[in-house]
Amino acid sequence: MFDLKKNYAISRSLAAEGMVLLKNEGAVLPFKPTDRVGVVGKNALSLLSGGGGSAAVKTEYIRSLPDGLQQKAAEGKLYFYEPSLTLAENGYSLAILNELAQHIDTAIMVVQRHASEGADRTIEQPQHVKEERAMIETADIIPQLKSNAYYPTENELALFRLVEQSAIKRVVLILNIASIVDLSHFFAFPKVQAVLLPFMAGMEGGAAIADVLCGDVNPSGRLTDTVAYAIEDHPSTANFNRIVGKRLKNDFFVVQHSLYEEGINIGYRYFETYAKDRVQFPFGFGLSYTTFAFNSLSFTVDGDTMTVQVDVTNTGEVSGREVVQVYVAAPQGRLPKPALELRGYAKTRLLAAGETETVRVPFPLSSLASFDADGVTGYPAAWVMEAGNYTVYAAQDVRTLYSCGDYHLPQTTVTQQLTLRFGGQPYEEVLPPAPASWGKDRGIKLLDVAEGKASMQEFVEQLTAEELIELAIGQPAAFAGGTSGIGNLLHYGVPNAQTADGPAGMRCAVERTCFPCATLIACTWDTELQYAMGKALGEEGYAVDLDVLLAPGLNLHRNQLCGRNFEYMAEDPLISGKTAAAIVRGVQSEGLCATIKHFAANNCEFKRMGGNSRVDERTLRELYLKGFEIAIRESNPAFVMSAYNKLNGVPSSANAQLLKGVLRDEWGYEGAVMTDWRNWVPMDEEILAGNNIKMPHGYPDEIARVRGAYYNGRISIVQLQRNAMYVLGAVMKTRAFEKQDFGTRHSMTADVLYIPSVALTTLSAMSVKQGVREDGEAYLCRLIKDARAQRIRLGYCIDLPQEGEYILTGEYRTNRPEYELWFENEAGERVATASCAEAADENAWYRFTVTVPFKKGENRLSVIPADEPHTDYDFFGSYLTNPPPWDLHLAGFEVRRKKEMRE
Ligand code: BGC
Repeated sequence: MFDLKKNYAISRSLAAEGMVLLKNEGAVLPFKPTDRVGVVGKNALSLLSGGGGSAAVKTEYIRSLPDGLQQKAAEGKLYFYEPSLTLAENGYSLAILNELAQHIDTAIMVVQRHASEGADRTIEQPQHVKEERAMIETADIIPQLKSNAYYPTENELALFRLVEQSAIKRVVLILNIASIVDLSHFFAFPKVQAVLLPFMAGMEGGAAIADVLCGDVNPSGRLTDTVAYAIEDHPSTANFNRIVGKRLKNDFFVVQHSLYEEGINIGYRYFETYAKDRVQFPFGFGLSYTTFAFNSLSFTVDGDTMTVQVDVTNTGEVSGREVVQVYVAAPQGRLPKPALELRGYAKTRLLAAGETETVRVPFPLSSLASFDADGVTGYPAAWVMEAGNYTVYAAQDVRTLYSCGDYHLPQTTVTQQLTLRFGGQPYEEVLPPAPASWGKDRGIKLLDVAEGKASMQEFVEQLTAEELIELAIGQPAAFAGGTSGIGNLLHYGVPNAQTADGPAGMRCAVERTCFPCATLIACTWDTELQYAMGKALGEEGYAVDLDVLLAPGLNLHRNQLCGRNFEYMAEDPLISGKTAAAIVRGVQSEGLCATIKHFAANNCEFKRMGGNSRVDERTLRELYLKGFEIAIRESNPAFVMSAYNKLNGVPSSANAQLLKGVLRDEWGYEGAVMTDWRNWVPMDEEILAGNNIKMPHGYPDEIARVRGAYYNGRISIVQLQRNAMYVLGAVMKTRAFEKQDFGTRHSMTADVLYIPSVALTTLSAMSVKQGVREDGEAYLCRLIKDARAQRIRLGYCIDLPQEGEYILTGEYRTNRPEYELWFENEAGERVATASCAEAADENAWYRFTVTVPFKKGENRLSVIPADEPHTDYDFFGSYLTNPPPWDLHLAGFEVRRKKEMRE
């Protein structure tokens, strides 16, 4: 059994090792025991541990900043003025701040920005109010907690202005933000002498920030993004979410074209080449409490491996860690190239003052190639290294470079010849002939394949087209908070492997470790720590019978406005890919499968299912696909999740060039590809294009569509079989398969079979709560969303000695007596309906009784909380208006034979 506390400690280390010290004027930090410190502003009282959506984690506690500071004060590391906490509840006037200034020299202020799926940052400029305000109410200064704003709000600025006027000597600013926002305004306040960027630092955030503020951890996080002075400085901003197309009702069918006109010019690739003066903090930047010198720089080339070597010496007075970043400036031949590109990196161990470590950074020489789509070098559709000098640097950031010398390439060299895939070229493939017969059970179980007693081909040849289609679609979730299952052909020994999010920790109904957001994890540049986090995630998932983690996400930070940047790592594909690979290796070392997502070019949340990323082939290959390639080659994740967006007009999940051409043919990927949740793409097209599983559970229309495509010959049996092989191959890597865990089966051995509720929870994290009834019995669920749109259903496996009619009785409680409970058999037919009409009192429990026909042996029963038909759904199954609030509680239920009831 794993130790949750140990994982909390990993979360704290990651947070402290990742946060970036951006400013430290006059060495304000680390605090000394004589420093008098207090907080100003309500944000300082509660930190945002992480973002929403797939990255939300239910956690035992969130360590606040006051918790962290009080602990350090108790250890004598600073003086912390506790009454500042009470003041923060009440608001500030100049007089209040001046009074506070008698007790403190340094005010800690916290700026917060939340983020979640489905929305990007808003970019309304703050209004510059001329008059100063005498009093700033606390109520005014907290709304940014939920704010998506890129710029500071007027209320935030007003508080900073008031502090400037007061006798408080200086401010240490903590940026508790989901992703980079406008920092120019905050840095313009002269009293802001130190700035720490912890992003959203997980459940131990307050402790980790205090570790860094007091010097218990010397900051060694380095930026994985360029911080520009203004959002318009990023070339991608101009086209970030330009809508093209006809607006229809509620905008839902509007295709949003993201023109990636800037091409490869994102982040430092652009700024270091064309706009150095627009950079507030360069890529790779981060301060330390000590200094480092780089000496004895050199590189060697052995076959396809270039190794940079450098002696890093801690030349300061306290111990610390340094990141050695390797950049290479390729010759500007015919193909224009960025001035510099990150090609490798490594982090030193903790070096004591005066200590030296020889750091070696190996990387493939061929990774210096650029992709020549059009053939300007003479080699179209190829990775090409142009002749000339490649200057190799070891660096502390992209601006602080130490030359290791030049690598001279006498002749332009093709490192890999490919074909163009993203300009509308059809994907050609030759399928093997159909087997002579199929669909006949030969008694081969999936375990026989694992044990080498039968081949996968023989196994799939037993399956009917219906069974093969079933493998291509999500299956019911089997635990509270799970997102859906995969597999579930129990008769053939294929378990229902369970999936759950996500990038900052396992998202489920029980408490798990909340790790820092993905960007902060990447900012550690610490592969070992990232691996340790993956391992911890693996242990935690495995322990609650999870099989597949829906993480990590590694889309690039193309633009700072993307609302989901916090779930992703960086503006650079090398660090994104390597960070993801380290996490995946950790996760999979514990027997849990990992899923890298969202493949590909999913860089904007606005109309995320209707987006069309229009990207040229060179940019795709050098940037947006590169990180995925690295992650796949270095960690072989069991699953890949395709993205919601289109790529050059073709949905990612139905993009054969992407999923078959690149992923399978070029990269040799053998795992399974699943869709993102509830996308809108026809499933037959997805199967044909190489997307193996449509997620989540419950798409009768899509199953019918695939069935139709099979019967009219558009999808062949061979295609269904090949699709299933990928799914089965991935399922064979899961915990459920390893343990031969086929879920809870309720077998009737006496007259009455009682099915307890808690064993059956199958709802998604957003919709389910478990609880205990007044009489002590656990009840099942509390639905807070629309059930039909969410396709919520409770799945039961009931094993019965005899065929016949059975009576099901149980208790429920609801505030919506007009709704019903539907009972469906495994063919998806409704076999019974229980009305909730008598539930007049929403706090009382009522009884339902239905009669259900069951067969002898194993029966799969679904209970579906069904509301009245609604017409105000959008294309994706979500309400256009607010869903009516609905609470439904279901306790366990009894099953008896009808005959026995009569007797
Ligand atoms: C997200 C995925 C996530 C899935 C399941 C989707 O909305 O885009 O990243 O894994 O939901 O929760």
